[in-house]
Amino acid sequence: MVRGLFVTGTDTSVGKTVVSATLMQRYGRELQLRYWKPIQTGIEQDDDTAEVARLGECQRDGVIDAGIRLQRPLSPHLAARLSGATIDLQPLIDIAKEARHTIIVEGAGGALVPVNPREFMTDLMSRLGLPVLIVSRSTLGDASLAVDTAATSAAPRSTTTRPG
Ligand SMILES: Nc1ncnc2c1ncn2[C@@H]1O[C@H](COP(=O)(O)OP(=O)(O)OP(=O)(O)O)[C@@H](O)[C@H]1O
Ligand SMILES: [Mg+2]
Repeated sequence: MVRGLFVTGTDTSVGKTVVSATLMQRYGRELQLRYWKPIQTGIEQDDDTAEVARLGECQRDGVIDAGIRLQRPLSPHLAARLSGATIDLQPLIDIAKEARHTIIVEGAGGALVPVNPREFMTDLMSRLGLPVLIVSRSTLGDASLAVDTAATSAAPRSTTTRPG
């Protein structure tokens, strides 16, 4: 069984990394947490793992480095396609299952970001079976986006639309 939290957001750049780093800084040592970014795009500009290690004051083994790392700063399925690859969720599930600690998993973008031609980030959430923490802005209209994200994250996989 995988233990931890899946940190998603209503959008990209909404604060998932900052919230993850805050959790690591406050509870990382006490609860023996491990931060994990399973899919990182735009790795040369954005390295959330390094950012959480720094902001969260993590010990060397406080972050899990393994995962899909793609160069282009695009959605996972497009960044993968342009690098000639397709993202398979199973190896990521295996990494999570092998983790011996409670993990703080940060998604990429929002809940309905496509990860391959058939699956979304919600499929990774659902297969990990972790509670989902939604990061949202607090400006007008964001409560609705947060509720949408909650409904989408809780929906059975068969009811979500396929990316095509
Ligand atoms: N150390 C920091 N102090 C203050 N603000 C920061 C810091 N790091 C990032 N930010 C700002 O906080 C906001 C949220 O950034 P963050 O990287 O947490 O978003 P994110 O949801 O993780 O994005 P992504 O989808 O790229 O993973 C951005 O506007 C960013 O510029
Ligand atoms: Mg981030």
